[in-house]
Amino acid sequence: MNFTVLTLFPEFIEQGLNTSILGRAIEKGLLTADVINIRNFSADKNGRVDDYTYGGGAGMLMQPQPVFDAYKEARSRILSKRFPEGNPAGDESATSGSHNNNKIRCIYVTPQGEPFTQKKALELSGEDDLIVLCGHYEGIDERVLEEVVTDRISIGDYVLTGGELPALVIIDAVARLVPGVLGNETSADIESFYGDLLEYPQYTRPEVWNGKRVPEEVLTGDPKKTNAWRLEKQIELTKKVRPDLFEKYLLRQSTLEKLLKDKRNNIQMIEALRRGTGDIICTDPLVIYLECDKLALVGLGDSISVGELLGIIPGSARSIVCSAGLAEVLCRDERIEKSCDVHNYVYTEKVHRRVVNKDIRRLGMEYAGYIGEKYALGGPEYGRERLGAGVVYGIFVEGEIAGFIGTHGEGSIGMLYVDEKYRHRGLAADLESFMFNRDLEAGRTPYGQIILGNEASTALQEKIGVYGGDKVLSWLNIKNA
Ligand code: ADE
Repeated sequence: MNFTVLTLFPEFIEQGLNTSILGRAIEKGLLTADVINIRNFSADKNGRVDDYTYGGGAGMLMQPQPVFDAYKEARSRILSKRFPEGNPAGDESATSGSHNNNKIRCIYVTPQGEPFTQKKALELSGEDDLIVLCGHYEGIDERVLEEVVTDRISIGDYVLTGGELPALVIIDAVARLVPGVLGNETSADIESFYGDLLEYPQYTRPEVWNGKRVPEEVLTGDPKKTNAWRLEKQIELTKKVRPDLFEKYLLRQSTLEKLLKDKRNNIQMIEALRRGTGDIICTDPLVIYLECDKLALVGLGDSISVGELLGIIPGSARSIVCSAGLAEVLCRDERIEKSCDVHNYVYTEKVHRRVVNKDIRRLGMEYAGYIGEKYALGGPEYGRERLGAGVVYGIFVEGEIAGFIGTHGEGSIGMLYVDEKYRHRGLAADLESFMFNRDLEAGRTPYGQIILGNEASTALQEKIGVYGGDKVLSWLNIKNA
């Protein structure tokens, strides 16, 4: 992943990025950072980039032209890396949304932005490039912000002297979610299991310090006792210092209880809540929105009209998953079209599955052509996007790739493919078992969805002891979204 920071204080950013875990990730080539000094784009002979505010007001404002020119420089550097042999789509306009292929997220850090959260960090970590624009003085002329900025983010309800610290905070939180940055492959995975509770207190050696003993519950060696104590502390602390989060936790828990009564048919909603990828935005019927996948999951009732549903889900929503019955009603509206009908498949065992061919590796971008050719669903860019998210795995036979599997944006396992000449050797079962084991290690329930009529996939599930829900779910597209 590549970060480009537009700033008046490049040394501030460079120092922050070159230390510790981020510095190591940059050295290893997992991240790149480009810092552009906005002052280099000043048209003024003294290098001035600020001026008085029209209409009066305290302090100075950054002028639009140097910011725009610095942005154009960042954009052109990024596009020439993306298309070393020239940009096939051209880049007539420098503005942020000018062309899909050329779209680059540009974040302006400002106290007037949306609050920065772990969810936002997760969403941004799916991008290949991020531009972060740091303001100074009283801010930046609104016209250039309208032209280049895609997201305005605040790191908290307080005002700092400039955008450099917020930029570093955002980069740090996003970078540690990039596969490989934390060193340990599963640590960010495990963390995607965000709860709405604050962390419990933790202790290290010595057992007695300053006359205070480490609580007995974490010394017992009995994980059940330790976990129960930790949860109790989490609840106690969250109730006291973050009553807003505690309300969310209670709603999530009571919703999960209802969904778990029909686990196989509701697994997509259960996992969105348990993994923290979805937010409850309506309770009757239940609507969970996954910002990361622009997806609305509807369940626990069918009484909602297209107008109501489109009124409560964000305008950015692209798809809906709901019962086939509700889909029939929603599809009567011209804004909605059916994509496919599926059944859920859930691996309910807690034990790891045996994998015979163990040569299974995470695939990098060099396999984008191969994946694009073999996996057509989701369009030509889908495979590339999943590879970028670091969630596609290939199985190899004598060093040659024989097939692959991946996870979709909402967390289900899919994209399964085995080359014709390697079929009937159990490789599909190995790939699937490998993915199940990964989910189990991260504390997730493995599940997938199979398109109705895909006999080969259904037979594979039954062969390996995975059983489906009995209700048909429909995937719908929101047209023009
Ligand atoms: N710039 C100054 N204060 C800020 C804050 N709290 N968040 C983001 N950007 C800022």
